[in-house]
Amino acid sequence: MGAPRNLHVAAASLWVGALSVLHFLVAVSGFEPDFLYPLENVTVAQGRDATFTCVVNNLGGYRVAWIKADTKAILAIHEHVITNNARLSVTHNDYNTWTLNIRSVKREDRGQYMCQVNTDPMKMQTAFLEVVIPPDIVYEETSGDMMVPEGGSAKLVCKARGYPKPRIVWRREDGGEIIARGGPSGKSRLTSVEGEMLTLTKVTRSEMGAYLCIAANGVPPSVSKRMMLHVHFHPLIQVPNQLVGAPANTDVTLQCHVEASPKAINYWTRENGEMIISNDKYFMTEINNSYYSVQMRLVIRRFHKSDLGGYKCISKNSIGDAEGNIRLYEMEMQERTETEEDTLPEENTDEASSNNRLYNGFQGSLTEPGDNKVRADIDSSTSTGTPSIRIRAADFLRSGHLLLMLLLF
Ligand SMILES: *[C@@H]1O[C@H](CO)[C@@H](O)[C@H](O)[C@H]1NC(C)=O
Ligand SMILES: *[C@@H]1O[C@H](CO)[C@@H](O)[C@H](O)[C@H]1NC(C)=O
Repeated sequence: MGAPRNLHVAAASLWVGALSVLHFLVAVSGFEPDFLYPLENVTVAQGRDATFTCVVNNLGGYRVAWIKADTKAILAIHEHVITNNARLSVTHNDYNTWTLNIRSVKREDRGQYMCQVNTDPMKMQTAFLEVVIPPDIVYEETSGDMMVPEGGSAKLVCKARGYPKPRIVWRREDGGEIIARGGPSGKSRLTSVEGEMLTLTKVTRSEMGAYLCIAANGVPPSVSKRMMLHVHFHPLIQVPNQLVGAPANTDVTLQCHVEASPKAINYWTRENGEMIISNDKYFMTEINNSYYSVQMRLVIRRFHKSDLGGYKCISKNSIGDAEGNIRLYEMEMQERTETEEDTLPEENTDEASSNNRLYNGFQGSLTEPGDNKVRADIDSSTSTGTPSIRIRAADFLRSGHLLLMLLLF
């Protein structure tokens, strides 16, 4: 390191010597060098190039030097770089403009820079080089996917580096609200939460999903990390229609809504526990409604007397299991000729679907039992002329089924 320091000392003494000689020359000519524009502050992202431009009129025989103000190091004099830094260069591109170029800027290049002319007293102007760094997630200190039992707490942490210090904001990937509990204002719902730590307490299943922590400091690009919050709970089954009636020979759909996490295995059985498998008779589907809720459907094709009875939908996961029960009964037909029965429903799908509508409507009305309502549904359907079936609703309601229905709802 001895050589560069000696070089500095030599350069500095030359510089001081030149000052007194040139002072004499100016006194003779009468023109003083003058800065045309102020030196402008520069802000640059780490790794990019920075340039300071110094414009001097009437330089005469004087010289322009670049100095790093904090270390007092002379960087360049006129067109020569003095300092031992390969990333620096100076140019004198036209008669009064001098530039200092710093290639591939580093954080330690930050600071005050001075453009100086060796008059006596010397003239100078300064400006600041700010080096900014885009945000970067510190993965070692940032949470990954998480699992929490329902009712428990989760602490999600996200750390980012960069300059200026990045601001961290949490959002849900689906745009949903984050539920902050236990704050000064109690429970609040927010679309975003700021801070390195996101604490979720008394977590519910609806809080399950992907969370994003986004780090930004004004220096592009912003970065984010995605983490999944899995909320675990015992399966739950809801059965929208526990009593399903259908006319013989039609297709019947049974439905159960399942909520479970972790993902459950769902299946159907008959009353006796015999598992139902997909074949010509049975068609089963599952539709996801969210991360944790699934709609199970069982279609029984061409409903027959042997299909009467109880059905179970069953959901099992690592935490437990749940079942739902559905009872299937036959709706009797009226005003129906032998020939119509033969053509129903295979050859007339329109008719089959209106039958479906009819008995779905009938199921709906079970929640508010009343002969009038049931009759009205049936009458309006028959008056259109399409479905030729008729339910003896009054008979049905008078029977023991009514009691059962009232108990169920
Ligand atoms: C340049 O930066 C310095 C230091 O940050 C600041 O004090 C000064 O006001 C800035 N000058 C201009 C012209 O922006
Ligand atoms: C249903 O959920 C499973 C598991 O979460 C997923 O693999 C599948 O792609 C989802 N299907 C639909 C249609 O969303």
